[in-house]
Amino acid sequence: MSNKIQSIRGMNDLLPENSPLWQFVEGVMRSTLKEYGYQEIRMPIVEKTELFKRSIGEVTDIVEKEMYTFEDRNGDSLTLRPEGTAGCVRAVIENSLLRGQAQRLWYMGPMFRHERPQRGRYRQFHQMGVEVFGLEGPDVDAELIAISARIWQQLGIDSVTLQVNSLGSAHSRERYRNILVEYFKGHQDKLDKDSLRRLESNPLRILDSKNPEMQSVIEQAPVLEDSLDEEDLLHFEQLKTTLDSMNIGYEVNPRLVRGLDYYGRTVFEWVTDLLGAQGTICAGGRYDGLVEQIGGKATTAVGFAIGLERLVELMREQSLSFGEEKPHAYLVLAGEQATSVGLGVAEMIRSAVPGLRLITNLGGGSFKTQFKRADRSGARLALVIGDDEAASGMVTIKDLHGKSEQQTVSVDDVANILSRYN
Ligand code: HAM
Repeated sequence: MSNKIQSIRGMNDLLPENSPLWQFVEGVMRSTLKEYGYQEIRMPIVEKTELFKRSIGEVTDIVEKEMYTFEDRNGDSLTLRPEGTAGCVRAVIENSLLRGQAQRLWYMGPMFRHERPQRGRYRQFHQMGVEVFGLEGPDVDAELIAISARIWQQLGIDSVTLQVNSLGSAHSRERYRNILVEYFKGHQDKLDKDSLRRLESNPLRILDSKNPEMQSVIEQAPVLEDSLDEEDLLHFEQLKTTLDSMNIGYEVNPRLVRGLDYYGRTVFEWVTDLLGAQGTICAGGRYDGLVEQIGGKATTAVGFAIGLERLVELMREQSLSFGEEKPHAYLVLAGEQATSVGLGVAEMIRSAVPGLRLITNLGGGSFKTQFKRADRSGARLALVIGDDEAASGMVTIKDLHGKSEQQTVSVDDVANILSRYN
């Protein structure tokens, strides 16, 4: 007896019963982005480790503790992408997409982080990310927030709130950093080991600590807002005014700092309290310095990513329904002759009625068995070809919901009748 091989902890299968909801959610996102004129880009799942270190930041939870990093057969250090922004920036530089034009891009796919798995937090999860290059904002920042808001609206989600903050320009953050180091140095006895280490390398990260014993020293820390310069403040003010004019409600959360180093100025998160501890379903912000940092020409940029597992979970929490698509018809093929002509007839019907969802009975079985399968499939109609029908080129149509009379018609007429159901 051999042992069963199991999946990796925190990496889930998406089962067929759940895929209609995922497809619905993905479809809404695709069509919304198309309506705003955004184009899809697909990047590899594996990148050089260096890319993530340089963009997300050496002193972040992701880079320090969560990356799936390995050496490939050439001895190069590679990493399964923990997020999509870094790869997207690499791709737009490498493919010269930034020459004198703005780019509005999106991507969707799996990301990998070695976190402790729990509800809403997985080791393989999926994001739909949007990135815009070459527009300084804050109009584009506002548009991105409007896109996310429209996606919630299309999905029927009404249990999320928007938090916004400005982290200021690199210059303002440097000033704030010094103030913060001074403050935390005065309270070193209250800092845990991680934070003491970060005091020199990345003091802003200390504000992100979830350690309950540090919450009061964090709460009393100076706020970044006081270090913002005039241009930062104007950018942030204009973002808020635009959100107001678009009727999008928000809370300013001065403690919102984000877990990745590349952000400056606008940052935002959509949060819900229906999902327990992992309540952020979407997060993003501006990262004006990153393109240059990765070796491209200085280009402003802003984006966000939605966590699909959390979004789908939230839809379930809100008991949202969606148009589940059952088959229109199930083709019952009884008798030897019927089976051999049946598949040919099925193909003719498919060509004649585009979009028809038709399941063909495969693997034989008695009339009774096949009708049971037809019922179980949820199909509205059974199309029946027995040996009589096969010989005369006819098909019998039976309404499985019993609403109309059974009728036997020619193959050509089947197509006509079915197009009415489609
Ligand atoms: P992030 O905040 O690290 O940002 O992730 C964005 C979203 O991905 C989170 O709000 C959450 O919904 C989902 N997520 C993150 N980690 C997990 C996990 N372990 N399990 C399930 N869901 C998770 C970014 O990744 C940035 N690249 C977003 C961005 C794009 N900023 C600018 N452009």
